[in-house]
Amino acid sequence: MIVDVELSGEWPELARAELTAVAGALGVRGAPVAVALSTMRVDLANGEAAREMIERLSLARRASARLGLLDECAPAPRAPGEGGCVRRRGHPTGGARDPAIDLWAGRWIAAGGTIDLTAPARRFWIVSDPSSEGNELFEEIGASERTALVGRRISLLPFRRPVGLDPRLARAAANLAGAGPGRTVVDPFVGTGALLAEAALLGARVWGIDRDPEMVRGAARNLEFLGRPAERLIGGDSAAVAAEVGAATFDALLTDAPYGRASPTGGEPVAALLERVLPPWAARVRPGGRVVLVTAGGPDPLPSPWRRTVSVAVRQHRSLTREFRVYERAGAGPAATL
Ligand SMILES: C[S@@+](CC[C@H](N)C(=O)[O-])C[C@H]1O[C@@H](n2cnc3c(N)ncnc32)[C@H](O)[C@@H]1O
Repeated sequence: MIVDVELSGEWPELARAELTAVAGALGVRGAPVAVALSTMRVDLANGEAAREMIERLSLARRASARLGLLDECAPAPRAPGEGGCVRRRGHPTGGARDPAIDLWAGRWIAAGGTIDLTAPARRFWIVSDPSSEGNELFEEIGASERTALVGRRISLLPFRRPVGLDPRLARAAANLAGAGPGRTVVDPFVGTGALLAEAALLGARVWGIDRDPEMVRGAARNLEFLGRPAERLIGGDSAAVAAEVGAATFDALLTDAPYGRASPTGGEPVAALLERVLPPWAARVRPGGRVVLVTAGGPDPLPSPWRRTVSVAVRQHRSLTREFRVYERAGAGPAATL
């Protein structure tokens, strides 16, 4: 099934990286391909896989499945009077009449449907693809959970600190890490728990560590509030804790490095802290697993065979740009699919 995913206009490079990671985690055939400025095309097994994909994504608007050439397919309403609407992708609505839209509307009404532009039960899209023989018809099959994500912003959680990561960015990072059911994710700089919350909401079991006991208690409150308590939250210096957790292994390390005055490091330079803390946790990441690091920049903190495979700079506001990095072990092969 060919599915077009419209990405959010905000942070487009991160949106593409997130979609590529989710498609890979779901075992999609081939990598997503750009077909328009902010639209990528994915070849999925079925509609269920497409809905799962769009529900996981943070930086996407909607997914639509290709039905076929407009001339050759005429989807019928599922019940008499069902409301539908159609738009042409990449064209503003209004203006001159569009014969392709008239063709779809004529057929839809003749089959018993009605046109509903405000709250349609079904939405269709006409796409003219220069590489195909004409207009193609797509039907929307799912939208991202944007409202739910915005509802988890830090100002609405019980424990709030300025370092709290925006849930849309946290969800994108959790997707870069491949978080999902059956996976365990660790965050050695847990803070308010924003990254772990999204990993847990994607189905992962989560562990977090923070040197500040108030952060550990606060992250626990936030995760409980969201109905996804952590498997373990531990107070202490993360490098010391890494030496004390026995044989624990993880599918991903997902973390947001300390930055600025709001997240103190006890006077230790951030680069030195990352080089001390991340390797012992990365060593506990299973083969095929990833390290996702959100950072203000600086050198790569992990030794060979870890190598950086994704690096996306994201401007959050005038004085804050964060880099989203993915590290994978060279020669480890792809991770198992979700
Ligand atoms: C940027 S904040 C994490 C923000 C988090 N992603 C959130 O959304 O709230 C970094 C955290 O690292 C913690 N930290 C700094 N040095 C640490 C260390 N050596 N071991 C464990 N935690 C440390 C700080 O207390 C702070 O809570």
